[in-house]
Amino acid sequence: MDRTRPLADTPLGYGLVSRTLHWGMALLFVWQFASAILRVVAEDTAVEGFFWNTHYSVGFTLWLLVLLRGAWGLANLRRRPAHEGPPLQARAATAGHLVLYALMIVVPTLAILRAAGNGRGLTVYGLQLVAPGGEPNPTLTAPANLAHGFLGWTLLVLIAGHVAMALHHGLVRRDGTLTRMTRGPDARSLPAE
Ligand code: HEM
Repeated sequence: MDRTRPLADTPLGYGLVSRTLHWGMALLFVWQFASAILRVVAEDTAVEGFFWNTHYSVGFTLWLLVLLRGAWGLANLRRRPAHEGPPLQARAATAGHLVLYALMIVVPTLAILRAAGNGRGLTVYGLQLVAPGGEPNPTLTAPANLAHGFLGWTLLVLIAGHVAMALHHGLVRRDGTLTRMTRGPDARSLPAE
């Protein structure tokens, strides 16, 4: 294994698995929010139809990936880089990340439960996961009807804040926070073998 490109996280930077999950999910979130935004601003157009057709499948993929990422994050918790800055700021960063994770899990979970309970079935990448039929179950459908869209937009606002903070660290403070997630551990700071 190349020590300068570890799979797991180290206190000096994120490993290949965390960085692949982070940037892969970032791309899928851009796609997912494009479908949600087009649904609001360009309903019933061809481009909206194309993107909206992917909303369930990409959302389901994000749900699987966030569960994987959460498990990987927990397994690497003790090895991960500490947040930069004074204690209060570091605690705010931890709290912000926890809320991001909570929403990344709750937003698709609510929608999947609704799809499982509304009688219309759930098909992902052409694969039928829940067959249509049966009476709608309000216990499964009501939470998403109430909160999936609202919490989805809240997640978008938080992601925008997260991107702004990452750019602030990378361009203004230049403290290495951003490069730990882009390039991973700095090979020059790895201890000698
Ligand atoms: C992380 C993943 C997801 C995000 C960020 C997300 C985001 C959103 C947003 C922001 C809206 C509001 C659009 C509007 O105001 O018209 C929305 C609507 C919707 N989403 Fe998702 N979604 C995700 C996953 C899913 C999944 C997995 C499904 C289906 C299984 C789904 C089904 C729907 C449906 C049916 C609507 C329209 C009804 C409503 O607003 O609740 N979404 N989504």
